[in-house]
Amino acid sequence: MARLVICFLFLVGCVYGRHEKYEGHQLYKVTGPSKEFEHLESHLDFLSTSAASKTGQLEILLRLSPDERKQWLNYFTSKDMHYLLVADNLAEILREEDSQISEQKSRTKSDNSSMSWDQYYGYQEINDYLDSLAEKYPDLVTVINAGLSYEGKQIKYVRISTTRFEVLYKPVIFIDAAVHAREWVTPPVALYLIHKLVVDVTDKDLVENIDWIILPMANPDGYDYSMKEDRMWRKTRSKAHKGSEECPGVDGNRNFDHYFGTREGSLDPCSIIYEGPTPFSEPEIRIIRDAILTHLDRIRLYISAHSFGSMFLYAWGNNGTLPSNGLMLQVAGVQMAEAIDKLKLPSAKSYIVGNAAQTLYYTTGTSRDWTRAVGIPFTYTLELPGYTYNFLVPPQYVKQIVTETYAGLAAGARFILSMYG
Ligand SMILES: *[C@@H]1O[C@H](CO)[C@@H](O)[C@H](O)[C@H]1NC(C)=O
Ligand SMILES: *[C@@H]1O[C@H](CO)[C@@H](O)[C@H](O)[C@H]1NC(C)=O
Repeated sequence: MARLVICFLFLVGCVYGRHEKYEGHQLYKVTGPSKEFEHLESHLDFLSTSAASKTGQLEILLRLSPDERKQWLNYFTSKDMHYLLVADNLAEILREEDSQISEQKSRTKSDNSSMSWDQYYGYQEINDYLDSLAEKYPDLVTVINAGLSYEGKQIKYVRISTTRFEVLYKPVIFIDAAVHAREWVTPPVALYLIHKLVVDVTDKDLVENIDWIILPMANPDGYDYSMKEDRMWRKTRSKAHKGSEECPGVDGNRNFDHYFGTREGSLDPCSIIYEGPTPFSEPEIRIIRDAILTHLDRIRLYISAHSFGSMFLYAWGNNGTLPSNGLMLQVAGVQMAEAIDKLKLPSAKSYIVGNAAQTLYYTTGTSRDWTRAVGIPFTYTLELPGYTYNFLVPPQYVKQIVTETYAGLAAGARFILSMYG
């Protein structure tokens, strides 16, 4: 009732109510052995994970509600894990983000056929933009209406090719974004890559000698829900599994068929890393699978864009051993990382390149491991920078992140050309 009154009195109050559920939630940086975090990942909301350098320990940014705080802080103390309070009230941070975004929106006017790289767009605006590009550049861009999300939203990807995907010796590069709903800075990275290959072309060789498949909005249900209902939403919005009434959605990056069902933490529908009832249970993930399999013989590089941590991670995440081309995965990853680091903000941390399990901890069902297992030689999870904002990157940083990341992707593409061009 009190909230209703506030809504009548101050219009903004209604909008602000959206973040109420995070009132008093605090963010902590916790340091400890990776074994420990593997076990905690299914119980807590990890906002990011990073290697805590020399010590062989991990540093995790995580969220604790007022109810669970005492129990977990005691737990960390009992395990000799160091923790540091870094933010006192998540709801406050989310309200601040809202006001920055609306301020930014009021400053820029955009139409369907261009993006300004200083704001976040809704899924429909992104779809409209893709369609308008295909209309404007019919010889170069094809939009594929790949299928519907669980809630029935159209999922689109673009194929960019100077030869209509008909020249079969050209390598294909595949990029997806926004598998995790709350990682809003990832679609702009995919969209800017499209922009640089189609509209503002500065690397003609990359357009002419490579065919591209770019899927900027892999999980529109989750993304829309994150924009309108729950900023911290990560999973899909499916309700096809047991327990989905209480806990809808599946972690799309645990839903691929690679060592599926072998990690205890991913079995619980209420876990933020729930893998789903079966491999490829999610229509959104089947769309990625099918697009990959359709062009499998030509895809040489696959990158899934995530936020955050400034990392290129490669297989195998399930056991920490390296694929047969592990050394080359490291070499290509370093080339991309160095190209980005040259342009990064002085205050931003340098990129880390490494095996996913050794750098962080074990994971199963990821797109990076599955794509490597089906035969794509170079596959990565890309964690974009979060600065001090984690994945709540203010829109003013979008331009920085998309331009520096483009340099990295271009370096990756040149590496692929040097091997397969
Ligand atoms: C953008 O595109 C959609 C459909 O593609 C259309 O309905 C809408 O009117 C367009 N908006 C502008 C501003 O052109
Ligand atoms: C590690 O996992 C990969 C598949 O991801 C598998 O090919 C390899 O045999 C495994 N290695 C060990 C030592 O279990």
